[in-house]
Amino acid sequence: CGGSDDEPLKLGFTSLANSMTDACVVPPGYVAQVLGAWGTPLNDSAAEWDRDGKNTSKDLLNSTGMHHDGMHYFPLDGSSSEGLLVVNHEYIDEKALHPAGPTTVNNKRPAEEVRKEVNAHGVAVMHIRKTGNAWAIVKNSRYNRRFTSATPMALNGPVGGTDWVKTPYSPTGTTVRGTNNNCGNGTTPWGTYITAEENWAACFVNTQASGQPAHQVRVGVPTSAGRYKWETAAGDATEVQGEFARFNVTPSGTSALNDWRNEVNGFGYLVEIDPYNPDSVATKRTAMGRFAHEGAAYGKPEAGKPLAFYSGDDSRFEYIYRFVSDANWDPADARRSDRLAVGTKYLDKGTLYVARFNEDGSGTWLPLTLAAVGKDGTKLGDKYKTIDEILINTRAAADFVGATPMDRPEWTAVHPSNGDVYVTLTNNTSRNATTGTNAANPRLNNANGHIVRWHDTPNANTFKWEIFVFGSDAGAAADTNRSGLTTLNQLASPDGLAFDDRGIMWIQTDNGIDGGRNNAVARATNDQMLAVIPGAMTTDSKGTGPVINAQNQGDLRRFFVGPNEAEITGFAYTPDYKTIFLNIQHPVNWPAYGTNDATTAPTGTVRPRSSTVVIQKADGGPIGV
Ligand code: FEO
Ligand code: CA
Ligand code: CA
Ligand code: CA
Repeated sequence: CGGSDDEPLKLGFTSLANSMTDACVVPPGYVAQVLGAWGTPLNDSAAEWDRDGKNTSKDLLNSTGMHHDGMHYFPLDGSSSEGLLVVNHEYIDEKALHPAGPTTVNNKRPAEEVRKEVNAHGVAVMHIRKTGNAWAIVKNSRYNRRFTSATPMALNGPVGGTDWVKTPYSPTGTTVRGTNNNCGNGTTPWGTYITAEENWAACFVNTQASGQPAHQVRVGVPTSAGRYKWETAAGDATEVQGEFARFNVTPSGTSALNDWRNEVNGFGYLVEIDPYNPDSVATKRTAMGRFAHEGAAYGKPEAGKPLAFYSGDDSRFEYIYRFVSDANWDPADARRSDRLAVGTKYLDKGTLYVARFNEDGSGTWLPLTLAAVGKDGTKLGDKYKTIDEILINTRAAADFVGATPMDRPEWTAVHPSNGDVYVTLTNNTSRNATTGTNAANPRLNNANGHIVRWHDTPNANTFKWEIFVFGSDAGAAADTNRSGLTTLNQLASPDGLAFDDRGIMWIQTDNGIDGGRNNAVARATNDQMLAVIPGAMTTDSKGTGPVINAQNQGDLRRFFVGPNEAEITGFAYTPDYKTIFLNIQHPVNWPAYGTNDATTAPTGTVRPRSSTVVIQKADGGPIGV
């Protein structure tokens, strides 16, 4: 059913209708199973998930976390029926996590509640196995692991070991506790996982009356309270080494070694994890920049050439970055077992660039180096003294060199054979007459988002780009619905984005429906996953497009629709393409109790659980074709 090698790849399912129910929808002939919903025990140290929210912080430390996001399937011995599923846990639904939501006693969050929330964040490594048609977690496997917002991690690259990151916990500035708000993900050609720290700034607070460092202002560290007020648990009798105090980065002592002012500088990075080695230490790769990383996709590796990694900074008018390694790719490194040492070789030394999308369909990668010349003709080295200072201030350095402000860059994905790079620009309703448009972000009040693609090589600092598809509702005027989308593939707020190795691109949406159905697509359907098989870019792009237009939009098909108010995110698949995995994040009334069928709506009200959904064909064939 996948066709022989000389037949072109074709999508083999009919596009789904809009859906707004408390259940998942898959095409006829497919089945969908709930796997690893939040609170699922990974080992015997955790109690089973409790419907009343009574699980403890220890349970969460030993269970799947909350708000599943980016993920990847790492096969064991190449297997398509046994592997390690690594899943990001981006943030939490405090109401669902605790019996009756979060509490505060005398203006303080209880330490146990904060620990439970900290442990619900991070990353899970889950050993999973298929028996018959059913996938399950292999409980107590030595591979099962949780990384939380408190797990010790290494700080590598130019920022590691500098004064920026010295704290009472790490006077040498080489370690930090935790990874936060892990949104999209990446992988490496040597078999490791990359988790992206996105909205980490919100978990901290700096209440100093004036003089908040410019880099904290630029990333939006709150000035009155942290997002979950974790800092208010400081001083609890059970607190260990400032485990709560560290979230308050207001200077209070005489130096960084007696207060937590530098704790926040240990966040905002891409973090490398070796899922195959349960004893390995997660490592923050600071050379790849510090911002609201959405994810990281690597360019097609070529022997003897540098590696490139692409990462969007998801905030309105922020930028797209490329990291290029100093080391040239040696394919033998793909087979080494000391994977994090390979990471150190390629990810700790290199050059970070930011993208400028020119009006004529060309683009320029602007290096963020001391020698880089800014818009005003002065050098970045006149503004910042060292490369670590540039990296701490990545966004401001990108402003300085004149990068193109984008409509919220989310995931990047790279075509497996032609190497074209795609990025989702989820939406930007703040793009108006005052901010202006640019050729790569051409719509005012961009409520629907779009996808841009480009082609480059790590040895060149120029590229060609074009718009791939414009999100829109089917009924919008032609100037909005520039891709001619219909009710069967209308989409808005593209976010998750991935290729499988066959060349099918999977597009996932996040309309923020939990905040109200704020665009016409969200008023017509729940968030969804679509599939498309893109052709290669031509080299004479003028930045026009869209590639998907009224003539060929039928090739963009809706494969999946999620339950009410949930975002669809994270994509993984087995090497035989017979199982795919996606994540349901922040549902409000799903999954149903008493079944693991993802397409069953609950009867009545349930405590919601973000979860992975496993999709297979009932006849066991490859997915999508
Ligand atoms: Fe966590 Fe930008 O989505
Ligand atoms: Ca998300
Ligand atoms: Ca996202
Ligand atoms: Ca999003």
